[in-house]
Amino acid sequence: MLLRAERRSIAAAILLIVAFCLPAAAQERRGTYTPPPADAIHAVVAEHGMVVTQERIAAGIGADVLRRGGNAVDAAVATGFAMAVTYPRAGNIGGGGFMVIHSADKHEDVAIDYRETAPAATKPDIFLGADGKPDIAKSRDSALGVGVPGTVAGLTLALEKYGSGKFTLGELLQPAIELARNGLALADDMADTLPAIYPRLAHWPATARIFSRADGSPLREGDALVQKDLAATLGAIAEQGSRGFYEGPIAEKLAKAVRDAGGIMTPDDLKSYSAVIRAPVRGNYRGYDILSMPLPSSGGVVLVEMLNILEGFPLADMKQGSAPELHVLIEAMKRAYADRARYLGDPAFVNAPVVALTSKDYAAKQRASIDLDRATPWTDALSAVPPREGSNTTHFSVVDSLGNAVSNTYTLNFPYGVGLVAEGTGVLLNNELDDFTAAPGASNAFGLVGFEANLPGPGKRPLSSMSPTIVLKDGKPVLVTGSPGGSRIISTVLQVIVNVLDYHMDVAAAVAAPRLHHQWLPDEVRIERGFSEDTLAGLKAMGHQLIEPMGQTSANSIAVTPNGLLGAPDPRTRGAEAAGQ
Ligand code: DON
Repeated sequence: MLLRAERRSIAAAILLIVAFCLPAAAQERRGTYTPPPADAIHAVVAEHGMVVTQERIAAGIGADVLRRGGNAVDAAVATGFAMAVTYPRAGNIGGGGFMVIHSADKHEDVAIDYRETAPAATKPDIFLGADGKPDIAKSRDSALGVGVPGTVAGLTLALEKYGSGKFTLGELLQPAIELARNGLALADDMADTLPAIYPRLAHWPATARIFSRADGSPLREGDALVQKDLAATLGAIAEQGSRGFYEGPIAEKLAKAVRDAGGIMTPDDLKSYSAVIRAPVRGNYRGYDILSMPLPSSGGVVLVEMLNILEGFPLADMKQGSAPELHVLIEAMKRAYADRARYLGDPAFVNAPVVALTSKDYAAKQRASIDLDRATPWTDALSAVPPREGSNTTHFSVVDSLGNAVSNTYTLNFPYGVGLVAEGTGVLLNNELDDFTAAPGASNAFGLVGFEANLPGPGKRPLSSMSPTIVLKDGKPVLVTGSPGGSRIISTVLQVIVNVLDYHMDVAAAVAAPRLHHQWLPDEVRIERGFSEDTLAGLKAMGHQLIEPMGQTSANSIAVTPNGLLGAPDPRTRGAEAAGQ
């Protein structure tokens, strides 16, 4: 039964959403993936260690660290810095992200939050135009959208606390420095995507110098990408640790570039940035433990809420990829994404009801509202009884021979972030602050609606969907997964987990299988190609609106099995690699 005040607030929420979000739901149009034939899908097998990334050189660098006796965190740090050079579309030191670690060495599970923060001068109306309405150019295409970068603080903190101690930061940075200084040949996904994104980059002279040929056209497959300033910046980090980035000449240059471009980040914002060690969100699904990212990512909360709802359905008795299975997945997504919009934000600013949202009791109530034959309208998917309580991205997975596991997702938000390389540093800057909600009911670039909990504020971290996740059985990792894809990240991780745990699919098949996505609003199911005609007809008959394409995701995953480590680079992007040993 809804209280009258509840009904009023839901009605107000709906009015705001209709006013702001529906026209602004600018989804990424890429992502016309069609799954390869079943006999072409193979996991890569290794015995001692595995790194699966979206870019092959960086995977090899991580695997080499494992070969030389490093643990999964050492390898993740080397891979993370390398991808800032080899995969500048999303690998970065000018953005931020999250790392979930199962440390067998320390008997600890932790989440490292290195999300970008809003500069101290940020006001809640920073992304509104003169008419008081959201101005998306401010958060997406201007330096106002640049958050204080967190990657350098996050990776150095991970190494200091959870590295093996066998490698210095400088040693792990060395391959990245050499690749930046000497150049690498443009290949794979970077070669596929650079021409389309180039006009956005060419807008900034310091960026154009790096990504252009002498004739002013974009670099092409096989051309050398040389990043000398970035090599020097990485060299300063190697020598001085994170201080080399957050203080002194590099910090001055980063802040100057942002301010010259009309932003508000200062050297003090950089100096006061810190990465945070948090307790992961924990769930339990059919006897497996789920470890995922807590706030300021919505990923863990939304994932566990969806899994809890699904646990009450006999998924194993429904055919994988059939309309009955996908219907309950969609309904679980709709409800959990509605809660995301309504309740979640930076925990330093918002008292979100995380315990209630991730409880089995709450999931049982949500489950009871699902009609097995009909799609629930989005207006009914706002939680009926609110829980009461005292309170262009890339993913890589690493497992070592000692049972340590790292699940890392980091991002600049858009491909190549805001597109601005800070003059003299080689650092591409993010536009992460677009993940804030510009005004209650407005949506971000991924069409995600939000309310007060996610308004901009000084020092605040924008709500994320990045969901690096580790699944444990009896305290040992069995699956490491995560993905890029904005709003689609959490539903992607859900489907990989369900495919592995409910359907016992080989991890490569689980990752390659077609996926779909519902995020409450817009009230539509985004689908990839590859579902059967029967499935699509069944979903339509239940009232689901199906729309192609779904948009890009890439769930580079590892399964730990009695037959060894199985690496599954996602076939959706060219160049994804599993490097085992
Ligand atoms: O943190 C988030 O949820 C977004 N900034 C992630 C962006 C993303 O995944 C873009 N990649 N496709």
